[in-house]
Amino acid sequence: MTKIALIGEFHDAGKEILTSNKINFIEIFDYDFENLKKQLADCDAIGVRTAKLPAEVLSHCKSLKIVARHGVGYDSVDLEYLNQNKIPLAITGKSNAVSVAEHVITMFLVSARKIIECHELVKKGEFSKKTLIQNTVELFNKKILIIGYGRIGKEVAKRLHSFDCEIFVHDPFVEKNNININPYKFIDLKSGLQNADFITIHVPLTDGTKNLISKKELSLMKKNTIIVNTARGGIVNQDDLFQSLAENKILGAGLDVFTHEPPEKNDIILQAKNIVFTPHNAALTNECRRRMSIETIENILTHLDNKTDLDNIINKNIL
Ligand SMILES: NC(=O)c1ccc[n+]([C@@H]2O[C@H](COP(=O)([O-])OP(=O)(O)OC[C@H]3O[C@@H](n4cnc5c(N)ncnc54)[C@H](O)[C@@H]3O)[C@@H](O)[C@H]2O)c1
Repeated sequence: MTKIALIGEFHDAGKEILTSNKINFIEIFDYDFENLKKQLADCDAIGVRTAKLPAEVLSHCKSLKIVARHGVGYDSVDLEYLNQNKIPLAITGKSNAVSVAEHVITMFLVSARKIIECHELVKKGEFSKKTLIQNTVELFNKKILIIGYGRIGKEVAKRLHSFDCEIFVHDPFVEKNNININPYKFIDLKSGLQNADFITIHVPLTDGTKNLISKKELSLMKKNTIIVNTARGGIVNQDDLFQSLAENKILGAGLDVFTHEPPEKNDIILQAKNIVFTPHNAALTNECRRRMSIETIENILTHLDNKTDLDNIINKNIL
């Protein structure tokens, strides 16, 4: 009898598919490796939110046929182990992009209009001191740099187009002509960083993208630049970002993701000025949670039924 493990909180809409098809599943909320090893041992498939699945855990899963991430980032799962054992890794490639794109634009606007400071001012009864809030800016006519032109980068570009922004894209892995046919322009990273008023990052965390934005890159930016990272912590070097903000070398920043999650209470980045934080929830709207839950379950069921949706499989080459 098929057994599926769902690690973390899944929206009911996905679980209802399993229940209505009378498919046996367990839910796991204790991510301790010893517990995972025990509970996953006889599972045919794993749907996983944020828990880490290293080889140490996966090697105990003797019946495993697929791991399905609830999301698109997969740095929490040991892909090398899955490849070696010919186990596909699925992601929810059709669910997240719009939700994250809206979050980026929210962060741009909250930073540009200093909404958090405005909110605090009104709450403190200092409504009349509105002239204290200075140096707010518009998105209109601004130059945007999108680093990574995949699913999310494309949705961000589409939405910013309606703000009459000039959109530049940096993605060395996308055919330049595919970017330039849009109203967007391909740009190299250095020129993009020097040019941009707003920067947003949409690349996976890999050895190649770790610290992609560090002291040197931050030093290229204009004084009025606002940078937002909703991709993964570690792509922007947090200490360097703190320093850049402290020295007013850039105007502002937004972080949905952190080098260590959750960040320690005494993490220096939490003391930064002109920064907006969210707790890695760019994709956690009601609509997106529902879509991700359903897509994760569908990824599992189609694979177990030999009808794998290859578009969603990261390691298609092993199939
Ligand atoms: N904050 C959140 O809740 C949240 C939600 C979803 C995704 N994410 C993160 O966003 C990332 C992007 O998601 P996606 O669905 O757009 O992925 P995607 O795979 O569709 O696109 C990633 C793009 O990055 C490009 N890229 C890779 N290395 C690059 C580099 N060095 N410079 C420039 N471009 C590079 C790739 O060519 C690709 O086009 C994910 O890897 C994930 O980590 C975060």
